[in-house]
Formats: sequence, C-alpha cells, structure tokens
Amino acid sequence: MSALLDREAERAAIDNVLAAARGGLSSTLVLRGGPGVGKTTLLQYSVAAASDLTVSTVSGVESAGRRSP
Ligand SMILES: Nc1ncnc2c1ncn2[C@@H]1O[C@H](COP(=O)(O)OP(=O)(O)OP(=O)(O)O)[C@@H](O)[C@H]1O
Ligand SMILES: [Mg+2]
Repeated sequence: MSALLDREAERAAIDNVLAAARGGLSSTLVLRGGPGVGKTTLLQYSVAAASDLTVSTVSGVESAGRRSP
C-alpha cells in the first residue's frame, strides 16, 4: 500500500478505536463518504494497524432491488 496522504484526523480516530480495543473496550466507528474518497484505503490502514489483533471482515453487495410482482 502506498503512503496515505493527509487523513491525520481519520487515522487518529481509527488508532483510538484500536487503542480502546487493546484496553478491553468495545467501540464503533462509522466510515462514510462519497465514491472514491478513500474509504477502502482507510479500512486497509485499519487492518494493517491492527496486526496484533484478531480482525473479522464482512463484505456487502448492492441489492438488486425488489422485483415487480
Ligand atoms: N489518503 C490517501 N492518500 C493517497 N491515496 C489515496 C488516499 N485515499 C485514497 N487514495 C487513493 O484513491 C483511490 C480511491 O480510494 P479508495 O478506493 O480507498 O476509495 P473508496 O472511498 O473506497 O471508493 P469507492 O467509493 O469506489 O469504494 C485509490 O487509488 C487510493 O489508493
Ligand atoms: Mg471502496
């Protein structure tokens, strides 16, 4: 992974969540933003920063939508 530019605030938020987990505290962080803004890249940073922890991942797929009757 190439170096992340900027994103200090986002990385700090991720680092805080990981530090809390290491201390036995659960927490939740919602990562949202428009297309191509860097969400996946920050998730990859999260996984790399959590190499000492157990990481579980899930993937979502866009619904095909409700069919007409
Ligand atoms: N902070 C950053 N520094 C450098 N490059 C970045 C950074 N954030 C994202 N990029 C680059 O920008 C591109 C888009 O990033 P990314 O795929 O993470 O966006 P995304 O929000 O997950 O997009 P999508 O909405 O399509 O899923 C990638 O090529 C990624 O390497
Ligand atoms: Mg993405």
